[in-house]
Amino acid sequence: MSETKTIVWYPTISIDDLWEGEMTDVEVEREVVLLVHLEGGKIVAYQGICPHQEQYLADGTFEGGVITCHAHLWQFEAETGEGINPKGCRLFRYEVKVEDGTIYVGVPEGTARRYNRCVAD
Ligand code: FES
Repeated sequence: MSETKTIVWYPTISIDDLWEGEMTDVEVEREVVLLVHLEGGKIVAYQGICPHQEQYLADGTFEGGVITCHAHLWQFEAETGEGINPKGCRLFRYEVKVEDGTIYVGVPEGTARRYNRCVAD
């Protein structure tokens, strides 16, 4: 039997405050969420804390479709949250929608843990 999770939507910032090619973090339901405005206009949202040693991903860089953590330079595909270096480490991804110029983050109801942790090889 497949499980359907209810998504609860939380308004965050205006789309005008996150230009294409930029990323920033916001707080949603007591957790830090990274918002990324991809080239081409799509917005994606991930856990805002690095899965390595819990640094803020928004303090890193977003260039060439890659998010790089400032602390130890772990890298993630901005489009998917998939780890580039190291591979096999993926960012928790939130649902996103834009309504009336506001970016909403969708939190799956009842999911206590909304971040991934990974260890270095
Ligand atoms: S804390 Fe992000 S790479 Fe180490």
